[in-house]
Amino acid sequence: MDFQDQNIIHELLDTIKNHIDSEHLNKQEIIDFEMLFAKTFLKHSPRIETPDNEALYHELDDSLEGLNALNTSFKDFFQILEYLNKKHKSKTITICDIGAGYGKLSIIASLFFKNIKVISIEPVKERTWLLECLGTKENIYHEFFNEIHCELPFDYAFFYFPVCHALDDILNLLEKKKDFLGIIAIESHGDFFSRLSLEKDWLEDKNIARTSIPRHDNNIKLYERIIKKQESPLKRLYHDIKHRKFEYILGNDSQGTWVEKLCECEINFFNEDEFVIQSLSSHRNFKVDKNHINELELTNKVPKNIENLLNKRSQSIEIDGQKIRKIYMHKKIELSNGKLVDL
Ligand SMILES: C[S@@+](CC[C@H](N)C(=O)[O-])C[C@H]1O[C@@H](n2cnc3c(N)ncnc32)[C@H](O)[C@@H]1O
Repeated sequence: MDFQDQNIIHELLDTIKNHIDSEHLNKQEIIDFEMLFAKTFLKHSPRIETPDNEALYHELDDSLEGLNALNTSFKDFFQILEYLNKKHKSKTITICDIGAGYGKLSIIASLFFKNIKVISIEPVKERTWLLECLGTKENIYHEFFNEIHCELPFDYAFFYFPVCHALDDILNLLEKKKDFLGIIAIESHGDFFSRLSLEKDWLEDKNIARTSIPRHDNNIKLYERIIKKQESPLKRLYHDIKHRKFEYILGNDSQGTWVEKLCECEINFFNEDEFVIQSLSSHRNFKVDKNHINELELTNKVPKNIENLLNKRSQSIEIDGQKIRKIYMHKKIELSNGKLVDL
């Protein structure tokens, strides 16, 4: 069957419409519908979705859960648009769907909320065929979100995204966008809301609905722009680490001042208002929260002997048959067996 066959498209749209109209669906029925839609969508997909559409389709016969994990349900998009429509008293608003996937947000808007415009940014071209068939090509961008898209006239952004460098860059752009009203977000991997809460100097969150299919956090949140407060020290530290503005981080424990190379550290979100710096070379984690932030220091310079020790540790060079765990600024190291050695 040809994907351009209008019957298929109308059939797909009718099933979505009936599904949204049926008010008393339980979670399982919603999941079943999402699976059915995903299967139909893939079956008629005109292009090969990586790695192999056919193989993916059969694999999905047993379980489409993986696919659903990547997609927000139609019901939830409907809830989001219904909320915004009420909030703006049916006036015209525009949402930028950053990482639009199959463009479900745009499909629901065009079916039920004619006054809500959607701009879809989706780098994987294969995913937007249905949207393109609906004739909204001029509002689809097959690129990673960048400053050019940020110039487009939109009021809100929708995100269902992993925490990554791209997200940091997107948030920086949105923060500077004039007349931007806020972000609607759904939790992705369990750390997305915590990451967004670091933006509380310009965004304030509230729960607007509950997701119809289970997520790490079942709240759908609106992060609304507020009059700018002062940047929190926690956010500044996060940015300085993430954007590698410094080379080293120093902290204190009962043995003295330890040092880590920032290029060997990763940030994990632990909780709201707290994050964890994970040192990949020493396999240790240290928690950063607003009460302990002053105990940490970022610097670009450490003495040559400390730099050498850090390099030795990066190369896994052993001392007394043990790996180096911690390096202290005052010529002391802790080995992987816990032994402290004065140098
Ligand atoms: C988890 S899916 C969410 C799909 C859809 N928004 C939903 O909720 O059903 C994330 C999507 O973001 C896209 N993406 C990843 N990085 C992106 C970026 N930097 N800019 C725009 N889209 C991106 C991916 O291709 C993927 O389709």
